[in-house]
Amino acid sequence: MTCLEHDIGAGDATIAIGNTAERMASDVPRFHTSRSSLSLTVHANRPLIDGHGRTIDHLRLSVTSACNLRCLYCRPTIRTSACRADLSDAQRVELVKHLYDHRGLRQLRLTGGEPLMHPAIIPLIESLRHAAPLLPLAMTTNALFLASMAVRLREAGIDRLNISLDAIDPSRYRALTGGRVEDAIRGIDAALAAGFPSPKLNTVVLDGINDDQIIELARWAMERALEIRFLEAMPIGPAAEFNRKHFVPARRMKAILASHFRLAPLEHCDGETAMRYVVNDGSVRGTIGIIAPISESFCGQCRRMRLTADGKLFPCLLDSRHIDLKDCWQEGIFDSDAVDRLIEQAIFGKNAHGSLHQQTGMITLGG
Ligand code: 5AD
Ligand code: SF4
Repeated sequence: MTCLEHDIGAGDATIAIGNTAERMASDVPRFHTSRSSLSLTVHANRPLIDGHGRTIDHLRLSVTSACNLRCLYCRPTIRTSACRADLSDAQRVELVKHLYDHRGLRQLRLTGGEPLMHPAIIPLIESLRHAAPLLPLAMTTNALFLASMAVRLREAGIDRLNISLDAIDPSRYRALTGGRVEDAIRGIDAALAAGFPSPKLNTVVLDGINDDQIIELARWAMERALEIRFLEAMPIGPAAEFNRKHFVPARRMKAILASHFRLAPLEHCDGETAMRYVVNDGSVRGTIGIIAPISESFCGQCRRMRLTADGKLFPCLLDSRHIDLKDCWQEGIFDSDAVDRLIEQAIFGKNAHGSLHQQTGMITLGG
């Protein structure tokens, strides 16, 4: 690490420069001023670049592999509490701070299992926010606990939410997930009331299970000005066979949607995983996305890496190869050189495309 500090005046602000309207500058020096002195802090910032020239600057951090649902396409084996092998929150924060300060991290998404099952999720978010003040911080949740937590999540520092909603009909939702759709809807309402920008909804579409919910879900979302994205089910982990059997390709989802709504394609933005369509049919208007990791893979634009709750870093969702970062703490001391070495090696070896050989389930990988 190199870090130059120059005292150059007075003030009280942290300013990030470079990089569009994003809240973080990944590869430029950060200028930090304190009340008594203005100090220029130049951090060595070496972005993580894989062997195919992709910059890997988005981290999905699974904070628990416990979940309060049992989605058929995920098939979690029962586990309700934290596991002793998990990283501590202090370790997670230390790692994120290192990647933010020195490795160009530009976006963090908290995932699970269900991240709101983490018993200390609010203090963890506060610590992450404190460690990386300008880092965009998102969360993927099933929303079941959101009704009572949305305000605190917002205050702690979460910027955006993605919410899973696989059916709107209560009995279909229960059959697919084991939960109550009323709780998810209450959670979505609470997120909006708490001032979150409109959460994006995610629906994994399965043949003969919820494909007949597509139109109702799209209408429901558009009536609330929420963007909904329909996802192809990935054949990974313990649900691999089930998901293969019930696979619905993106083109069929599009045909179903197009039979009810006039879809105008939106221009594809860089880094966007969804094909997005605008609907403007008089009474209904909104935006609908289709995410096709299998039939129209977006690997070429991948910027992601994933860290499991127990410290395994997966450079690719659709590849079982991973490294273990747990040993980068010796007697509680964080070895940033070891982290750099291991992550660089893993990221450099990231495949151009996912192999679909992934034994680990989504409940561990975090979506
Ligand atoms: N294929 C596609 N999406 C999945 N998710 C979970 N398992 C799968 C799968 N096999 C989605 C959930 C949630 C996010 C965490 O990932 O619906 O939105
Ligand atoms: Fe839980 Fe998500 Fe798996 Fe559903 S898909 S069981 S909400 S981890």
